[in-house]
Amino acid sequence: MINLDALTYAGNPQNLNGLPIAHHIFHKGDIGNIELVTDLLSKYQPRVIINFAAESHVDRSILGAEAFVQTNVLGTLRLLEASRNYWEALPASRQVEFRFLHVSTDEVYGSLLPDESPFQETTAYQPNSPYAASKASSDHLVRAFHETYELPTLVTNCSNNYGPYQFPEKLIPLMILNAVNMRELPVYGDGQNVRDWLYVEDHCTALDKVLTEGKVGETYNIGGRCELSNNEVVEQICEIIDGEVPAPTPRKTLIKYVEDRKGHDRRYAVDCSKIERELGWFPRESFSSGLMKTVRWYLTNPEWSRNVTSGKYREWLDLNYRNRA
Ligand code: DAU
Repeated sequence: MINLDALTYAGNPQNLNGLPIAHHIFHKGDIGNIELVTDLLSKYQPRVIINFAAESHVDRSILGAEAFVQTNVLGTLRLLEASRNYWEALPASRQVEFRFLHVSTDEVYGSLLPDESPFQETTAYQPNSPYAASKASSDHLVRAFHETYELPTLVTNCSNNYGPYQFPEKLIPLMILNAVNMRELPVYGDGQNVRDWLYVEDHCTALDKVLTEGKVGETYNIGGRCELSNNEVVEQICEIIDGEVPAPTPRKTLIKYVEDRKGHDRRYAVDCSKIERELGWFPRESFSSGLMKTVRWYLTNPEWSRNVTSGKYREWLDLNYRNRA
């Protein structure tokens, strides 16, 4: 397995320690560097390319959209170009086996009203944040490379992930670390926004299924069938941490309602019946078991957290949270 990673602010080589995969080769670099990608493809001759690379944090995209277009749109385009050149030059027997899997998000579908049905693969795209718009654009490019050049692509649109190693700008790890350290828990708006949560390893098993059994040119939605409001998520985190690391006052007293995210999507929910029905994929973890594992991982890996929450991370907290009333 060849891993190409630009190691931007959220990347961390420590995340690869103890990876139980033989022949793992790491390269620091950008998917948008077409010469580098072309060299790697010609050197290692992969059977499959998975595009996990993305700028992924909505709040960052609100403060500056350009990096999102650079990586998610142009980066994906260049990766597609290099992949297409590589694939076209393969012998026919290897061309049939080749797959390009593009990992995307349910945010491309926009926001749901409380009584609307969950997103299906056929739901019209309606991205609301610069991040979602950049991912929508990359999905369209992948589709176009399949339709135009017959590149054997697959696209997945997944709901909110959580689990070990998640960078603590996202809701769950941010709240865990703040709660452990008895810091304020900044909930945007009224905390009634709903997300559909999936444990990261369940996302990985879904990707494996799509890669091995998915139909070329298709899109598969992936979700946890686990809709929860942010208030419910934060309260569960507080309860677990109170149980694991007792404190004089319950952690929920640390909840602070702060100014809402601009254009904040109210509700996401994914209809994952296609991947269940066609590929037989189901998540293994419930939200409570996955959350318990996640909290315990952060509690037993304080050094990892210390390493990723240094200077630049504190600058981000200051930028994002300082001026929220
Ligand atoms: O739906 C899939 C998407 O989920 C992924 O494509 C994105 O990469 C990922 O970041 C995530 O997007 P969200 O915006 O839903 O995730 P985030 O963890 O930033 O926020 C989850 C919810 O929690 C959202 O309603 C905003 C709220 N929130 C978030 C933060 C960071 C707060 O109330 N307070 C916070 O401090």
